[in-house]
Amino acid sequence: MINSTVTTTIILSRYQTKPILEARGKNAQTVEVSLDLGLTVSQLELDDDGVRSPTGQLIMWEELEKIDKHEVGCFVIDSSGMQKVQLYSEEMSRVYTLMPTSGPPTMLISGLPMHRIKGTDPQKDTRSKINTVKPVTGLVLDTATGLGYTAIEAAKSAEKVITMEIDPTVIEICRLNPWSRALFKNRRIESRIGDIYDEILSFEDSIFSRIIHDPPTFSLAGHLYSADFYRQMFRVLRSDGRLFHYIGDLSSRSGRRTARGVVQRLKDAGFRRVRSRKDAFGVVASR
Ligand SMILES: C[S@@+](CC[C@H](N)C(=O)[O-])C[C@H]1O[C@@H](n2cnc3c(N)ncnc32)[C@H](O)[C@@H]1O
Repeated sequence: MINSTVTTTIILSRYQTKPILEARGKNAQTVEVSLDLGLTVSQLELDDDGVRSPTGQLIMWEELEKIDKHEVGCFVIDSSGMQKVQLYSEEMSRVYTLMPTSGPPTMLISGLPMHRIKGTDPQKDTRSKINTVKPVTGLVLDTATGLGYTAIEAAKSAEKVITMEIDPTVIEICRLNPWSRALFKNRRIESRIGDIYDEILSFEDSIFSRIIHDPPTFSLAGHLYSADFYRQMFRVLRSDGRLFHYIGDLSSRSGRRTARGVVQRLKDAGFRRVRSRKDAFGVVASR
């Protein structure tokens, strides 16, 4: 387990160690690889002990070989050594693990990925959610921060995004994830800790132009799929506002069953034009 106050400089997964080890096999002197899980690319120099970053930091061959064996794991390397990005949440009694993909990492919540990764990656998954309610302008509510990807994507065009996360440990993982950086740096994103089910009561009527609702599955957070909560989302949405509600695979039996209930309760709460968006694994609705 990692000390979350560590400042990450280098963070690697098998997606980066593979080309480095291949370069060693070819006796190459340099290799271009990302030191931040694919966000940027650096030129590394190979020597007998390992590879050297542009700032002179040595990553030992033993460290690279160890990372390479991990299917599911991102590792921070700094002056205190190498540590897996994995935290235990006392609040939720869960383990969170940053999991590499061919795109940005996702996060495993007690073994389950937070984003779609089968035949896609978290970036494409995020864009497909945001695209359903384009143009994303004005004030946006992102009900469930996670790794902050929906908030960050929405903030590219919105005036301001308020994003809520129930578990501070999730935000600690965000601090270690290079792809979540904008969550802390972008002044148009306001990141709050709290239970959206309660916190939504504190928002005035009709203030949000878009709501991105990307909750955990129904079995883990049934209250975020409840008629009460939908009435609150309706109340805080502007008259011309739109909602995207992630559900899961609408082609699966459980997805269809959950969607039927969601659609009915959204309509009962007052939402109009409630439509399935199979491509985005959810539904959209207008006020
Ligand atoms: C599917 S993930 C959201 C992924 C996120 N949209 C992203 O782009 O990375 C759901 C998140 O909601 C958080 N969560 C669960 N219950 C919540 C609640 N009642 N209020 C706010 N956040 C909650 C979980 O801890 C988890 O981080």
